[in-house]
Amino acid sequence: MTGFWIPHLTDDGSFTFFSEEFGETFHSQLGAKQEAFLKFAAATNLAEQAKRDQIRLLDVCYGLGYNTAAALETIWAMNPYCRVEVYGLELDESVPKAAVEPPLIDSWSATVRGVLRSLASDHQCEMPYLSATLLIGDARQTIQQLQGFRADAIFFDPFSPRRCPQLWTVEFFQAVAGCLAASGKLATYSRSASVRAALRAAGLQIGTIPLNGDGAHLPHEWSQGTVAGFEAQALTPLSIMEQEHLQTRAAIPYHDPTLTDSAEAILERHQLQQQQAHCESTSSWRRRWGIR
Ligand SMILES: C[S@@+](CC[C@H](N)C(=O)[O-])C[C@H]1O[C@@H](n2cnc3c(N)ncnc32)[C@H](O)[C@@H]1O
Repeated sequence: MTGFWIPHLTDDGSFTFFSEEFGETFHSQLGAKQEAFLKFAAATNLAEQAKRDQIRLLDVCYGLGYNTAAALETIWAMNPYCRVEVYGLELDESVPKAAVEPPLIDSWSATVRGVLRSLASDHQCEMPYLSATLLIGDARQTIQQLQGFRADAIFFDPFSPRRCPQLWTVEFFQAVAGCLAASGKLATYSRSASVRAALRAAGLQIGTIPLNGDGAHLPHEWSQGTVAGFEAQALTPLSIMEQEHLQTRAAIPYHDPTLTDSAEAILERHQLQQQQAHCESTSSWRRRWGIR
């Protein structure tokens, strides 16, 4: 953990951080805030869900808190009296602390700025329409504290599977699925076949987050991510191309039977399983669909 974070500007004018440990930025260069609103709040239909009296949220990999912040802005813009219960899971408490400094925090409403500050300093925030708790530690362990909690929306936002495989395994998704309400939705930016296969193996149905219709995407950008839930009819079906991706070697999921393995051990196990698999190679699937 560095505990020292330098703001990095993204294309929508919002800031993110870069992690030396994981070798990645915390958000897409296209826009950190935009990602929080589109791939998490919109993908889980929060504006629609906010018509109810109460919403429960689980923010896996809370980081700078953008997904929680975008969710609260979306819900309370629709219904200021909607009561929200939210749990955030985060390994490194220095991240939310650094994220409440200007200029990062400036773009949120005064109410949401107050929530982010309380969570960063006290890991807790109680208000008339909010109960929020930040659990600090490895999410594979802290999630065990959420027995009985059922979220209407789960934001699933770890670093990429290659950099942080321990949070994309079948076993961790089983634990996460145990925290999802029967009609709830889990959203993630990942469209990777191994992630989608792991979600399925954990008992969830999967759908795609369609590209926005501006046509300005490259051939390899076939989706903006994945939404999962127990009810298939509430999801946007995968295209034929995405379904065929799940028949390739790329769809071998990561495993972590005891939820304690290192990233290296999980990657090594995964590589072995891929070598032994008899399915179509991902390069031949790419050629077939003209993906570079
Ligand atoms: C891509 S960033 C999340 C961005 C965040 N959702 C936001 O809006 O700012 C991934 C986060 O996962 C955290 N993390 C890494 N390993 C973790 C683990 N095992 N358990 C919980 N959090 C973890 C990192 O500290 C980082 O804050």
